[in-house]
Amino acid sequence: MPRATFYFPNGFLWGTATAAHQVEGNNSNNDWWIWEHQEGHILNSDLSGKACDWWGGRWKEDFDRAQDGWQNAHRFSVEWSRIQPERDRWDEAALDRYREMLLGLRERNMTAMITLHHFTSPLWLTEMGGWENEAVVDLFAAFARRTVEALKSHCRLWVTINEPNVYVNGGYLGDGFPPGKNDQKTALKVLLNMVKAHATAYEAIHEVQPDAQVGVAHHWRGFEAANSGPATGYISRLHNKVFNQAFASALQTGKFDAVMLKDNVPQAKDTQDFMGLNYYTRELVKFDPGKSGNFFSNRYYPKDAVLSETGFIANDPDGFQQAIRWADGFGLPIYITENGCDDSKDDFRRRYLLEHVKALWHMINHNIPVKGYFHWSLVDNFEWERGWSQRFGLWGLDPQTQIRSRRISADLYAEICRTNAITSEAVEKFAPEVYELIYPE
Ligand code: BGC
Repeated sequence: MPRATFYFPNGFLWGTATAAHQVEGNNSNNDWWIWEHQEGHILNSDLSGKACDWWGGRWKEDFDRAQDGWQNAHRFSVEWSRIQPERDRWDEAALDRYREMLLGLRERNMTAMITLHHFTSPLWLTEMGGWENEAVVDLFAAFARRTVEALKSHCRLWVTINEPNVYVNGGYLGDGFPPGKNDQKTALKVLLNMVKAHATAYEAIHEVQPDAQVGVAHHWRGFEAANSGPATGYISRLHNKVFNQAFASALQTGKFDAVMLKDNVPQAKDTQDFMGLNYYTRELVKFDPGKSGNFFSNRYYPKDAVLSETGFIANDPDGFQQAIRWADGFGLPIYITENGCDDSKDDFRRRYLLEHVKALWHMINHNIPVKGYFHWSLVDNFEWERGWSQRFGLWGLDPQTQIRSRRISADLYAEICRTNAITSEAVEKFAPEVYELIYPE
């Protein structure tokens, strides 16, 4: 059996990613809280409840877990509705809590990356039409400015918005997020408002912290044409253009082109210091004239795909390489801001993790400047419209008792972080069943 060590560059950031609503608990002043409490929105009527109880202080023990696991970075989000509970009121105590968390990371020698918007919005904002109302552009920038002013001594890496495309898909194309609309025109308008809000926030952040590094966590999903027919080819390109390309390109060129909605946004040109990339999977797309709401398409995984526990994610590390190559096209440093899978049994995850980290290593050795990798996620957390049915944590969580349980992947990932490498010893010890996949003859 071949033996080898796949080293990562010195100073590489290894961490996990989390988001406020998914881990803090009792985020009762935002749109998701209301949405969860309405019948029929969340699988099994689950509620975020106390989530991982980070607002109650359990971030400390979870940061200890991350530190014990040799992680040197963590990406988390701040909750807008806590920092600005009403349109004309800022909550200094909430900012103090986030400052404490940042100090907690510093004490543990971990670099912080903060996301300013991760799917949730304050109720006062959604009452004025949320991201549909162009007023959000300045409101979001004001929130970004205030937050960065308060936290800038402890954080330099900022993600303005997490996955604008997933947000729009979820909330405005019927995919289970509030406000529960299904309307293409509004969807694209929201996406455009997000471009403008990002651009305005980018300027504001740099004004208050000139050496800030600001980016977006872009969700890139592969859409492979399921057959060679022209309609299917067109539809897969359309998905790619609207879902993967439109937002990111606007931040490079100042031109928004989501096919059905185009606009000039010169203020958005060159407003990224890095590319944040969230990659989970790739899928097949096929033209279906009956599915007008879904851009006339069926989307599904290939028959031979190896699927995660709930069938949500196909293990597709080649797709990860494609995603990294795509991100590299923007000529900026790259952070993998999310990558992971649902697996309470921690069987699939070890393979997924190793194959994806190896794919990443491969791309870095093709001179692609990836600076860090954040696994989703540290501890099981509230999975949006899928509630607690999916378990993405390196650590398991029983949300009732708040008891955490260590998964083997936590040890495997710790070895990767400790050695800054994939080693034969770690694979042999923690995932012998995939040894030959990682070290083929
Ligand atoms: C989101 C996370 C989510 C993860 C897994 C990503 O699209 O940013 O909030 O938990 O997917 O579903």
